[in-house]
Amino acid sequence: MNESICIHAESETNLPELIIKGNASLPIVQGGMGVGISNWRLAGAVAGEWAIGTLSAIGHSITPAYKLLHKGALIEAKKQYPNGVPKEVRQGIFYDTNLVCIREEIRKAREISEGRGSLWINIMMATNDYERQVITACESGIDAIVSGAGFPFALPEITKNYPNIALIPILANARGVKVIVKKWAKYGKIPDAIVLEDPSRAGGHLWASGVTKIHDKETLLEISLPETLEFLQSEGLNIPIIVAWGIVDRADMDRMFALGASWVQIGTRFLATNESGASQDFKESVIRAKESDIREYISNAMLPARALNDSGIFSVIEGRTAHTRECVENCLTHCAFRDGVSALPNGETPAQMCILHALAHATEGNKSEAKNRALYFTGTSATRIRTIESVKDIIDGLVGR
Ligand SMILES: Cc1cc2nc3c(=O)[nH]c(=O)nc-3n(C[C@H](O)[C@H](O)[C@H](O)COP(=O)(O)O)c2cc1C
Repeated sequence: MNESICIHAESETNLPELIIKGNASLPIVQGGMGVGISNWRLAGAVAGEWAIGTLSAIGHSITPAYKLLHKGALIEAKKQYPNGVPKEVRQGIFYDTNLVCIREEIRKAREISEGRGSLWINIMMATNDYERQVITACESGIDAIVSGAGFPFALPEITKNYPNIALIPILANARGVKVIVKKWAKYGKIPDAIVLEDPSRAGGHLWASGVTKIHDKETLLEISLPETLEFLQSEGLNIPIIVAWGIVDRADMDRMFALGASWVQIGTRFLATNESGASQDFKESVIRAKESDIREYISNAMLPARALNDSGIFSVIEGRTAHTRECVENCLTHCAFRDGVSALPNGETPAQMCILHALAHATEGNKSEAKNRALYFTGTSATRIRTIESVKDIIDGLVGR
């Protein structure tokens, strides 16, 4: 990693400019937010401010943004199967169309960023079709693959033909960092950076083995960051750490830099922007959220998660019982809703919902009724965010331009 004072005319800031695989950016990463919340417009706008925009990967093909593309593919299939398109074919259309969406998202984000900053993509281990999503992003000229919701053990092997693309795992404690560093060493690969995400504050799926573990000491950033830095130092490794910790303002950022972070990752604050792919109702729920409006629960992906109580889907699923269900998309490797799992070994009960559709209902362009079936993921920082702003205003405020 090279570090120098940022001298881009456009950014004029005293923050260090960080260079990864030759790409220079401000030390601010907009976190990946699925499904389609961190779309090309958001990630491209963030990169356009010389920071790092992260695209989401799975599920674009069922959002309103790509409805016509998906519908077009189904109409073609109906010509071939006039008596009904088999489930496997519809599933193939969902995945194949999504790869087209990934290419489009990268192309459009790159276009509006006009070559400034960096563009990353978040591809989750917990999703099916992982390898094809990664390869498609690599072929489409992404700068980095960021991968969590499971250990991305195979990522160096999958991307071996793309040595110029940075590989960045998302982890929650020093133990996880040790595991991935040791595993990737077998491929001769050192992570280009590591996202350390604190589950006591982050939004969406959380890296913890149960709801009761979200606030465990070893994953609190104040503990996990020094422990991680100590481990890396003992191994003689200089890997930049990106911290995800409910950051809202410059004071939060400076606190993280003082603890030893190289970059900060911000999700929720970028969700409440003009540019994000969230529906207006979702953005407004975020900016009026109080502490009591935030729910920690076990998701159908069998991971703890954080969302707003305002999410319409929570009323829909009340009283639903677990049983195996027909699923066209089959988006998750483990799904309690699809597979009829009523309880985890620790006794916690996963939410019985199709998360893919619930998240897609939370995106812009849906009919107003969609909010009654939507899932609004959020981080705890929602309680400190009171206005919907533009990406430029947020970044200007953070860097003091
Ligand atoms: C709406 C929403 C969706 C998210 N989706 C993803 C995702 O698809 N993959 C992922 O790795 N993290 C996801 N996250 C986590 C964020 O990228 C971020 O790391 C985390 O929320 C911490 O930042 P924050 O405290 O500023 O929100 C999501 C967060 C939110 C709020």
